[in-house]
Amino acid sequence: MGKNTVVTLRQMKERGEKISQVTCYDYSMARLVDAAGINMILVGDSLGMTMQGYKDTLPVTVDEMIIYGRSVVRGVENTLVVVDMPFMSYQISPAQALENAGRIMKETGCSAIKLEGGKTVDPAIKAITDAGIPVVGHVGMTPQSANAFGGFKVQGKGEENARRVLEDALAVQEAGAFAVTLECVPPRLAALITKKLDIITIGIGAGSCCDAQVLVCQDLLGMFGSFVPKFVKQYAQIGDQITEAFKAYDREVKEGVFPTEAQSFVKSDSSEEFLAQLDREY
Ligand code: KIV
Repeated sequence: MGKNTVVTLRQMKERGEKISQVTCYDYSMARLVDAAGINMILVGDSLGMTMQGYKDTLPVTVDEMIIYGRSVVRGVENTLVVVDMPFMSYQISPAQALENAGRIMKETGCSAIKLEGGKTVDPAIKAITDAGIPVVGHVGMTPQSANAFGGFKVQGKGEENARRVLEDALAVQEAGAFAVTLECVPPRLAALITKKLDIITIGIGAGSCCDAQVLVCQDLLGMFGSFVPKFVKQYAQIGDQITEAFKAYDREVKEGVFPTEAQSFVKSDSSEEFLAQLDREY
């Protein structure tokens, strides 16, 4: 597989080929995602929960996104990396949005940024795309606004809300984004939005008709505790395997089974006599 770019992804949509995306936050995992041939990585601000243990994404800062983002970029050859703009890094003014998007691009080496919101963030999207920075929008359930929604709730239910989500997606396209994430949007509405838009739609909890799908890495791998959102499919139970491996290591250390001679980094190069002499001297 060749390198994924904004252009090759657009071509995939034109050919009717589905596009894969997964969140990722570190170098080792990025290498595995890249080796699997996944088209896009999202360094999501969901790292506030998955990597930092917060209850939501709000505390995450631009500096933190840059640290995680640049580790991921170093791990990929072909997968296109998108980095999320965190809460309050783009809402104040288009100038603030552009400054932070520019920092994220320069300091991580990523290929695009993502920000949440519809019509209200259009001036920010326009300022960023005018500077040559590819943007992914994010409408429907936007976690940074969860307090305003009264929690993490499906968006687009009811006629008025469905119209709002469609208009937000159209506005994001109009402002210059090359893709838009549709989160927790009813599947038939997501299908209609995908039909109406020329840009790539990326679904999460939005049914199968979107051009692309994204899942949070820890959800997909079965690594994130007992809570599994309804729209997640777990492709592995890596969390249990990791705990079993740690338990085996813990047991072997405590029983003196690990390490053996085979795991000694430096083979003994001192003679028995010399070691005996050291023993006597000290
Ligand atoms: O931060 C994130 O991981 C996201 C995805 C859930 C789309 O925005």
